Amino acid sequence: MAVLPILEYPNEILRKTVAKETAVDEELIHLSEDMAETMYAAPGVGLAAPQVGQLRRIIVLDCAREGEPADLLVAINPEILESEGEVCHSEGCLSIPGYYADVMRHAKIRARWLDVEGKEVTGTLEGLKAICFQHECEHLEGGLFIDHLSPLKRSLFRKKYKKHHQNRSGGEKGDT
Ligand code: NI
Repeated sequence: MAVLPILEYPNEILRKTVAKETAVDEELIHLSEDMAETMYAAPGVGLAAPQVGQLRRIIVLDCAREGEPADLLVAINPEILESEGEVCHSEGCLSIPGYYADVMRHAKIRARWLDVEGKEVTGTLEGLKAICFQHECEHLEGGLFIDHLSPLKRSLFRKKYKKHHQNRSGGEKGDT
């Protein structure tokens, strides 16, 4: 297993739509292990393959709270079948470090996916797990949580984020 580098906005790979997997092969299983390790190391609660530069239709999540046992979910070809209710939650993303914003999501979803053995699983998700599942599925369509922001908030985000990056690269070059 290995911790993979995480791509950051505005990397173009994050905007690609990922095609459906036709089979669960060794490469995909290996990738799921690396993705889980990368997510735990970050640390984060979810990660989608495009974030590590892989255009494969797979997400990992673990929304267990501190002190609770691990609750790793690996979902290949994840699909949302039904949804109900609405919930507003402050979201962040490992590909947009240091930025958080309120996003509306469905409160409860029924979803289907393949596990690492290629077996079809159907489950009902609620709370943070449902929010995270929707956030990660969006990554597979080239979407990011900032796409949900109003035009005004998005332009403020761009300014703030640009500054954050300039500061960071400045620091790396040894500027003030
Ligand atoms: Ni994300």
